[in-house]
Amino acid sequence: MNMEYKTLNNGVEMPMVGLGVYNIARRETQRVVEQAIEVGYRSIDTAAMYYNEREVGDAVKATGVPRGQLFVTTKICDPCYTRDETMRTVEHSMKQLGLDYVDLMLLHWPVGKPAVMWHALEELYGQGLFRAIGVSNFYPNTFPAIVNGARVMPVVNQCETHVLYQQRKMMDYLKPYNVALEAWSPLAEGRHGIFKGETLTGIGHQYGKTAAQVALKFLVQRGIIIIPKTAHVERMRENIDLFDFTLSDDDLAAVASLDTGHNVTGWPSDALCY
Ligand SMILES: NC(=O)c1ccc[n+]([C@@H]2O[C@H](COP(=O)([O-])OP(=O)(O)OC[C@H]3O[C@@H](n4cnc5c(N)ncnc54)[C@H](OP(=O)(O)O)[C@@H]3O)[C@@H](O)[C@H]2O)c1
Repeated sequence: MNMEYKTLNNGVEMPMVGLGVYNIARRETQRVVEQAIEVGYRSIDTAAMYYNEREVGDAVKATGVPRGQLFVTTKICDPCYTRDETMRTVEHSMKQLGLDYVDLMLLHWPVGKPAVMWHALEELYGQGLFRAIGVSNFYPNTFPAIVNGARVMPVVNQCETHVLYQQRKMMDYLKPYNVALEAWSPLAEGRHGIFKGETLTGIGHQYGKTAAQVALKFLVQRGIIIIPKTAHVERMRENIDLFDFTLSDDDLAAVASLDTGHNVTGWPSDALCY
């Protein structure tokens, strides 16, 4: 399966499509991740709060694909107020994963003292424990706490982004910092009947693609990294099979009109803080 890569602001190459493993049960995670790697995924997105880091690490170690070809993201979520607390929470994640390094370590959301936590990540990045560091769910009310005074810029901001919440303001906001937008819930968790709507199904019909593929391609074509979650192998194939067609300007305009400007998952976002 073809794959495109994004060159992050520190030169590291990140696959444009990865597998998200939120809500995949621990007992299934190793099998699902191994299957995904077999299908062609090279990037896996987990987090301490998904309670499946260990199984992701086990899959990475069990597969025949060399570690250097895989891209593992995890996130720390505990509110930390000191460098030492942050070091301890990172150490816990690394122990769970059982890997020598992670490709991308994120602050999962703005809790504790984000600047203090960030400086601890910078220190560990300097030591080579992470190939890149970034943030998630940081909006203009919290992002400056990271970048003002950062010695290392975040490579990504991972935020809820999909056809119903297209994050145009966030993309403009991040541009001057050269920070990439990474989409969580790129399929809007399948809410609001997105797989059945006429716009996405109609466009898909022209290319022999599904509504889900059009929804994902719309993001990738705008340069947004995506990490759709599925536990089903056919859908894994479907969600990564995005690089043999191109949406036309008319298609892009039609999908752009689906934007509600609001998040739909109920997780925190700050659409009003620009
Ligand atoms: N940083 C954060 O705060 C944050 C928050 C939320 C999520 N995330 C990350 O983003 C990843 C993806 O987000 P998400 O899991 O919330 O939602 P999502 O990827 O938008 O949607 C997943 C849902 O869509 C279904 N699905 C997947 N592919 C499909 C297809 N081709 N056709 C029809 N249905 C399909 C899945 O069902 P099946 O599994 O049954 O196929 C699942 O119910 C997470 O796993 C996690 O890694 C990060």
